[in-house]
Amino acid sequence: MQTSPGLIELAPSILSADFAHLAEQVRSAEEGGASVVHVDVMDGHFVPNITIGPPVVKSLRKSTKLPLDCHLMIENPDQFILEFADAGSDWISVHQEACIHLNRTLNLIRSHNLLAGVVINPATPVDTLSEVLDIVDYVLVMSVNPGFGGQKFIPGVVQKIRRLAEIRANRGLNYRIEVDGGIALDTVGDVVRAGAELLVAGNAVFGHGDPKTNAQRLLKAATEATLLKV
Ligand code: DX5
Ligand code: ZN
Repeated sequence: MQTSPGLIELAPSILSADFAHLAEQVRSAEEGGASVVHVDVMDGHFVPNITIGPPVVKSLRKSTKLPLDCHLMIENPDQFILEFADAGSDWISVHQEACIHLNRTLNLIRSHNLLAGVVINPATPVDTLSEVLDIVDYVLVMSVNPGFGGQKFIPGVVQKIRRLAEIRANRGLNYRIEVDGGIALDTVGDVVRAGAELLVAGNAVFGHGDPKTNAQRLLKAATEATLLKV
């Protein structure tokens, strides 16, 4: 599985989708240009909410060919990585804050031939990742405190995206930069100009209206912002 640094991709978060019509909603977002499906897994411990687990990933796997990007907001992720791999995940990301043995956890994800991502909360500095940046395929910068869809974007995280892009260039690394939380037409430009390439959006794609049109608009705004990148 290859990653493509620089390519802007939209990863709709199904957290805001209508679960009774999940396959249709994902199809509609795909028709609008979405190319990754973001799956938010919450355990009620690491974050104050409970969502979905491997059975939903397994069902989704049968209904879309798009890569499934599983964002684990759970304690003890090592315990569940095999199950998510078997269910059909393509990418798995874990929180720096949830992993005592982060190097081991990321290598465990890689051992299943999946893309491995590391996530940082808004209050966690980029520097806490310095020793793992060479073993990750992507870094996910949270732009809200994880736990719920539809929250307000935290502007202070833009400088973290910029810093990750600088470190990548200085150290000659290849990880991609993903951003998650409050991404919509009014925030997507700033994150793309800072260097984000994988754009997670829940509410802005599934919260209202037609997922296809919403995805198209968001991608258009993101692509236009890359043209203004300095
Ligand atoms: C938050 C989740 C996000 C969330 C994004 O804990 O990780 O993926 O669904 O939703 P929006 O785009 O609505 O902020
Ligand atoms: Zn997420």
